[in-house]
Amino acid sequence: MAEERMLITGGQRLEGVVRVSGGKNTAVAVISASILSQTPCVIENLPNIEDVNVSVETLEHLGAKVQWCPEQGMMEVDASSIHRTDVPLDLCRRMRASSYYIGALLARFGQAQVPLPGGCDIGRRPIDQHIKGMRALGAHVETARGMVSAQADRLVGGDVFMDMVTVGGTINVMLAASRAEGTTTIYNAAKEPHIVDLANFLNSMGCRVKGAGTDVIRIRGVSSLSSRRPYAVIPDQIETGTLMIAAAATHGDVTICGCIPTHMEALTAKLLEMGARVDERDDAIRVRSIGAHRAVTFKTQVYPGFPTDLQQPMSALLCTATGTSTVVENIFESRFRHLAEMERMGARVRIYEQTAVIEGVPLLHAAAVEATDLRAGAALVIAGLMAQGTTEIYNTHFIDRGYEHLEDKLNSLGAKIWRIRD
Ligand code: EPU
Repeated sequence: MAEERMLITGGQRLEGVVRVSGGKNTAVAVISASILSQTPCVIENLPNIEDVNVSVETLEHLGAKVQWCPEQGMMEVDASSIHRTDVPLDLCRRMRASSYYIGALLARFGQAQVPLPGGCDIGRRPIDQHIKGMRALGAHVETARGMVSAQADRLVGGDVFMDMVTVGGTINVMLAASRAEGTTTIYNAAKEPHIVDLANFLNSMGCRVKGAGTDVIRIRGVSSLSSRRPYAVIPDQIETGTLMIAAAATHGDVTICGCIPTHMEALTAKLLEMGARVDERDDAIRVRSIGAHRAVTFKTQVYPGFPTDLQQPMSALLCTATGTSTVVENIFESRFRHLAEMERMGARVRIYEQTAVIEGVPLLHAAAVEATDLRAGAALVIAGLMAQGTTEIYNTHFIDRGYEHLEDKLNSLGAKIWRIRD
């Protein structure tokens, strides 16, 4: 396959209005949950990204009938023709959320064979909590030679105590519990907006999920779930944040519409602390910035703390702030690789295990850099927007996994970004 590079001529001020797409991490969860429905299921506001394409391939492999209209963001899934319960390795390697098919297939068909999932290389990503949760519901789960095999004649609701807050683990147990007999209670559950969205989707199909958005979620399973009306997924919190950071990085004036401002509080607070101006309306956020930004300190945390997925774009922005910023990455072990790339652009960074100390420089200069994962790619786009000259970003396929038409959106605001294929 020809290698694509993204080229960005920096120094352009971003200005105007841009609409955010549907959420990646909610889309992959809701699509996997569609196989629980006895009736065809319509999902709307889906982003046109690679992870959604992989989800479609997964459903088709299982035997579902899928109509995916990327331009309308609309998908119809008819799961009645599913005739297998395994997910192939090549699909699992391409998407972290493949693990959700363990919980969903187990709930619907009483068995699943799914290789350990891939996704971005940002540190260790075990699924022991997912498995522990399914065992608590009575499933027999084995992992051998990189394959997870789960089987249950019947699932019975139970108590699941998560050892740490895990988004994927919470989702997978919710899926498995949706058709279990009785009530499952997840303690120390994740509270991210996409957990609430999945709960709403399951409830729209007749399940009874309560407490999503708090750290105790109760799921009363039902014997069958049926989709009754189209379901639209929530807007992408991380894309919204990336666009907010891009606006600040270019000292621009950008209104991001179609978003949920309350999901953005942790980032908004930091941008205000840096000296940017942020105005919120019901479903829009305007970010303006004039003059130098102040250095800040932040730590990544589970929701509603500062999201790890925005740490990379935000730390890129801090490379040009006045003073020394400290960033602590608490969720994943290996999420500073974009900063090593940015050193080629003149960034001054020291990394001590999970802490990055960033000494702001007045200007970055263009260089050839490599995206090592999805949000590292977004961070390098931010760096390219700020830098003098034309930055070249390699491995753009990472960016396409999670951002819908990112360069088209930024170009509509005045950026100069294009791609070339070698
Ligand atoms: N963890 C375990 N055991 C488990 C599960 C998780 O030790 O069974 C640990 C992980 O190693 C990690 C922490 O718990 O240190 C949190 O992991 P979590 O399970 O919450 O992450 P995830 O479900 O694998 C999702 C998103 C990520 C996002 C994280 C944190 C999806 C498909 N992925 O991953 O999104 O960074 O939650 O919010 O929802 C991205 O969009 O770029 C991305 C990586």
